[in-house]
Amino acid sequence: MATEFQVNGRATRFDGDPETPLLWVLRDHLQMTGTKYGCGIAQCGACTVHLEGKNRRACVTPVSMVAGKSVTTIEGVAGKAATAVKAAWVAIDVPQCGFCQSGQVMSAIGLLSAKSKPSDADIDAAMAGNICRCATYVRIRQAIKDASQNMGKVA
Ligand code: FES
Ligand code: FES
Repeated sequence: MATEFQVNGRATRFDGDPETPLLWVLRDHLQMTGTKYGCGIAQCGACTVHLEGKNRRACVTPVSMVAGKSVTTIEGVAGKAATAVKAAWVAIDVPQCGFCQSGQVMSAIGLLSAKSKPSDADIDAAMAGNICRCATYVRIRQAIKDASQNMGKVA
């Protein structure tokens, strides 16, 4: 049975097993490889996408769960929070190896979309599920704070 949904605003159809994790539909079926595979069990955050605007781990999301819904990936994320987060990431050069960073960026955008002025505790809670083996955590937190401050100035 086909699963129909939207990815980055585009109508999309997947004809395979509805239990296939969204992560593999994105990477293997749609060739959108910005969303990464880390653990496969919702422990690392590398596969974070937005489902109806909210952070979601694609590795544990059967594609059937997104039927009729809107998925946003690192390739298509846009808007004030996205613009501010991406600019802050570049300005302070957050990534090291980069592998975890699309997930980090998606989680940060999800946070700032829901709460434009997060406290330190909010940041810690929102980002706790995103692991970085290179330990870029200090720069990630600073980038989120910078993005929060700059969001008002972004068109
Ligand atoms: S790959 Fe999904 S949380 Fe690790
Ligand atoms: S930048 Fe290397 S794992 Fe995070």
